[in-house]
Amino acid sequence: RPRVLSGIQPTAGSFHLGNYLGAVRQWVALQESHDAFYMVVDLHAITVPQDPAELRANTRLATAQLLAAGLDPDRCTLFVQSHVPEHAQLAWVMNCLTGFGEASRMTQFKDKSAKQGADRASVGLFTYPVLQVADILLYQANEVPVGEDQRQHIELTRDLAERFNGRFGETFKVPAPYILKETAKIYDLQDPAIKMSKSASTPKGLINLLDEPKATAKKVKSAVTDTDTVIKYDPAEKPGVSNLLSIYSTLTGTGIAELEQKYTGKGYGALKTDLAEVMVEFVTPFRDRTQEYLDDPETLDSILAKGAEKARAVAAETLAQAYDRVGFLPAK
Ligand code: TYM
Repeated sequence: RPRVLSGIQPTAGSFHLGNYLGAVRQWVALQESHDAFYMVVDLHAITVPQDPAELRANTRLATAQLLAAGLDPDRCTLFVQSHVPEHAQLAWVMNCLTGFGEASRMTQFKDKSAKQGADRASVGLFTYPVLQVADILLYQANEVPVGEDQRQHIELTRDLAERFNGRFGETFKVPAPYILKETAKIYDLQDPAIKMSKSASTPKGLINLLDEPKATAKKVKSAVTDTDTVIKYDPAEKPGVSNLLSIYSTLTGTGIAELEQKYTGKGYGALKTDLAEVMVEFVTPFRDRTQEYLDDPETLDSILAKGAEKARAVAAETLAQAYDRVGFLPAK
């Protein structure tokens, strides 16, 4: 079976709709056909300041949400990044292969450090993408299911894999991004020019999966569309409506064309009311299942312990090979 690997940060608490549609949903599907490794990236989380107790709670919360979304520990390897020390170890090697200018060109770093103020941004934030490179290469992943915003990091991963292989001999698989066109970028409901993210300017544009379903329905109903009334998929001219259609289509498995047909002659109100209902039907059981997993932390922790053990077996083998290729003297 081909292998996939991906990760999600635990920091936001609730996953948002963009995380789910852009990534986690694909993770669930791929565990059926692929040898799948999924992790909660707590090492990445501390690139910006974290409260320790909150980080610990959010790591369990992220795990609970992944299980609630449909990850099955019998079908995939689900683990926490810091439980596998090889991530930090390979990251060091990769840091030494990455150009300073190359790292400086990563747009996510530029955005985040601009927000924090360049002097306050940590060196960890700067090398964040290199840690992600190590995450992926350790598992010899063929594909990496993510949203569009991660494409540049996968490109860097490919570059570094090729650089290492070229310099030290064939060691790493060069991975490909796995990005589904329809859900590559879910947009903010209030500002369809920007991606949905937890740093949205107004909470009204952000659908948190763990919010009260009623509040979620309200956000959908007040989503920004346009002054026209035609329900048509046209991301350039009608970004708000197109975003709603993408979400609707993906959550229900109904084709966009079919939805356009269904809403011919009907107004935006009808579309939003129906989508609000679809959303409530999706988030209600998701919240309940998440709570059930949270109520049983022992099961959660034992799932993660098993996952870490499986992950380490793979990661340790790759790291040993990389260390050897680099010229490190084996520890006897
Ligand atoms: P993170 O935690 O920010 O986001 C998790 C996943 O959600 C996707 N995503 C979106 N997709 C579509 N539309 C949106 N509006 C949207 N917002 C977020 C992201 O693309 C991501 O796939 N750096 C990664 C975590 C990471 C990782 C890895 C991923 C660490 N190591 C190794 C893959 C492989 C991140 O910050 O994801």
